[in-house]
Amino acid sequence: MKPSTLPAPAADRPVALDVEGLSVDLRTPSGTVRAVDGVGFSVRKGRTLALLGESGCGKSMTALSIAGLLDPVAEVTGGSVRVCGTDVLRLDGAGRRKLAGPVLSIVFQDALTALNPVQPVGRQLAEPFRIHRGMSRRDSAEKAVELMTRVGIPEPRLRARSYPHQFSGGMRQRLLIAMAVALDPDVLIADEPTTALDVTVQAQIMRLLRELQTERDMALVLITHDLAVVAQRADDVVVMYAGNVVETGPVDEVFSRPRHPYTKGLLDSVPEHAVRGRPLPAVPGSPPELSAVPSGCVFQARCPLVRERCAQERPRPVSVSASRSAACHFSEELDHV
Ligand SMILES: Nc1ncnc2c1ncn2[C@@H]1O[C@H](COP(=O)(O)OP(=O)(O)OP(=O)(O)O)[C@@H](O)[C@H]1O
Ligand code: SF4
Ligand SMILES: [Mg+2]
Repeated sequence: MKPSTLPAPAADRPVALDVEGLSVDLRTPSGTVRAVDGVGFSVRKGRTLALLGESGCGKSMTALSIAGLLDPVAEVTGGSVRVCGTDVLRLDGAGRRKLAGPVLSIVFQDALTALNPVQPVGRQLAEPFRIHRGMSRRDSAEKAVELMTRVGIPEPRLRARSYPHQFSGGMRQRLLIAMAVALDPDVLIADEPTTALDVTVQAQIMRLLRELQTERDMALVLITHDLAVVAQRADDVVVMYAGNVVETGPVDEVFSRPRHPYTKGLLDSVPEHAVRGRPLPAVPGSPPELSAVPSGCVFQARCPLVRERCAQERPRPVSVSASRSAACHFSEELDHV
């Protein structure tokens, strides 16, 4: 193999997605609350970053803010999101639409609501090629069949004329993934792409995502509750709690030596955390309501290491090694417990 064809080491790959200090406020009947609080991470081309955390910790809000798809009750109030160098938070609707597909794409958990129920799937898959690439009806239809073949839909030419409800959940998820990767985006966000599926199908879909990612050299942000999927599929992990990032770093390092008590709690509560298909295990207690997030450490109510300073001062993420950060005043103590 020629040296020029060797893949560049991870650290030399261009950063495809760079999120800094992202904050999102939510308007609720009882006032405004912060759902995402200063979240930051970056993902290089071809790499996978997992967003991990219990239900309600702000993973989807983070993803939706990046994709410009937030519900009107939510608003980005700070930070920046750069996709291949473009600050997407500053774009208007037209600018966003130009990026959606060829640069940034998102796959959701619920394929049935994400697909148009009254249009044959072939036509839906052909749409990106007509809109973004100006292809004719016939050429784009051909592209749709190619895509269906690629994602493993049997008899694609025939099935292109079917409607979403005529497919199984797993096949619908394949269609959704096909639509998301149609234009070779630089960044793909997959928000719990397999949660609604049975365990065997989950594994197939994860494999397909991995193959497509390698083939198309995409940066993948994978949102999941599944520690086994994170361990097996992600390069880096961002652990979130109550809208805050509490720990980041390479998955193997974070999982083998967590430096935040929340991460440690998640891992400790599954003795063999590499169990596929399991939901995130419970750390005793539950996250605070957004309207009652304490002013000191967000994790203080559930933390076994809590002490006075934790109630007074919010720990900021600090480097705990060259590639890792943790937001805990006493993170070095975890080396000894
Ligand atoms: N449209 C909305 N209106 C009001 N509150 C919302 C809305 N969407 C999310 N929230 C709240 O914002 C917080 C963050 O929600 P988010 O959906 O990002 O969590 P998540 O980490 O994706 O959880 P899950 O794992 O259950 O998908 C939660 O407290 C949630 O109740
Ligand atoms: S800062 Fe204090 S409460 Fe927060 S995680 Fe660290 S030890 Fe626990
Ligand atoms: Mg979610």
